[in-house]
Amino acid sequence: MRILTTGGKGQLGRELDEVATAAGHVVVSTDREGCNITDAAAVARAIDLAAPEAVVNCAAWTQVDAAEQDVDAAYLSNAIGPRVLAAACAQRSLMLVQISTDYVFDGRAEMPIDEWQRPAPRSVYGLTKLAGENEVRQLAPRHLVIRTSWLYGRHGPNFVLTMLRAAAAARPLRVVSDQVGSPTWTGHLATELLSLIERDLPGTYHVTNSGITSWHGFALEIFAAAGVAPEVSPITTADYPTAAPRPAYSVLDNRACRLLGEAPMPDWREGLRSYIAQLRERGALPGRTS
Ligand SMILES: NC(=O)c1ccc[n+]([C@@H]2O[C@H](COP(=O)([O-])OP(=O)(O)OC[C@H]3O[C@@H](n4cnc5c(N)ncnc54)[C@H](OP(=O)(O)O)[C@@H]3O)[C@@H](O)[C@H]2O)c1
Repeated sequence: MRILTTGGKGQLGRELDEVATAAGHVVVSTDREGCNITDAAAVARAIDLAAPEAVVNCAAWTQVDAAEQDVDAAYLSNAIGPRVLAAACAQRSLMLVQISTDYVFDGRAEMPIDEWQRPAPRSVYGLTKLAGENEVRQLAPRHLVIRTSWLYGRHGPNFVLTMLRAAAAARPLRVVSDQVGSPTWTGHLATELLSLIERDLPGTYHVTNSGITSWHGFALEIFAAAGVAPEVSPITTADYPTAAPRPAYSVLDNRACRLLGEAPMPDWREGLRSYIAQLRERGALPGRTS
């Protein structure tokens, strides 16, 4: 299959390029310079040059706290960008895959959240990502909206690399223990994305690694996997104020995939171990741990 990716220099974009190419697909990866998704002419040019069967939008404004101030910039990349891509894909009967987030929910759930629960974002970032989902649903008949969470992968920045760098600097760490979710490795997400593209059944899908942990639990597992033992104390959300509110409960139920018979996503610890092994193999494990 020929796949065009946008945001190709981001962590998911890079991973998808590698995973899809290794699986025998042809990936035409574009970055902001080659294809700014808010520029209709650039998008049309990139699509017509690549002649893909599917477009995967990995481009987004992902600075969650900065979005509270730069509201227009966040809406531009996260809502207008998907609108432009969706119109271009609809015109050419192409599949568009839009990547979205657990931040479209308010975090008040007490059980894993499936695709049929009503979103209620509490941050500007969440609002812009929900707007992007809706643009794609309304404009591109052949669409997949894929919600994922707590993503980490090649090159970051991400929580795993931040924790490992802090450990290497021997800084005592305080990590939030009252927000829970499912950390998801881009390597596993990319593989599942390909499976859903091949299935070609439009709709919304939650795709996260299995299992639940808190940021504090995630940090402990990162250090165990990397073989380091820094001082880590659990703190509450109230101890660590941020510009954008974070959902307290962010666990997504991958119900649609399960009902369609997709293989369950691996446990988040398995994703983490594969990621750390990949960093180690490439000599990219931060600090004293490599
Ligand atoms: N990271 C997470 O924890 C997480 C969790 C759930 C869902 N997601 C979603 O997963 C997707 C991938 O995230 P990621 O972590 O791979 O993000 P990332 O590493 O920040 O990559 C995003 C890329 O998009 C590019 N971009 C932004 N605006 C653009 C535009 N107008 N035109 C073209 N490129 C543009 C950025 O380029 P510049 O550097 O030039 O801005 C960057 O290379 C996003 O949709 C995100 O919302 C992420």
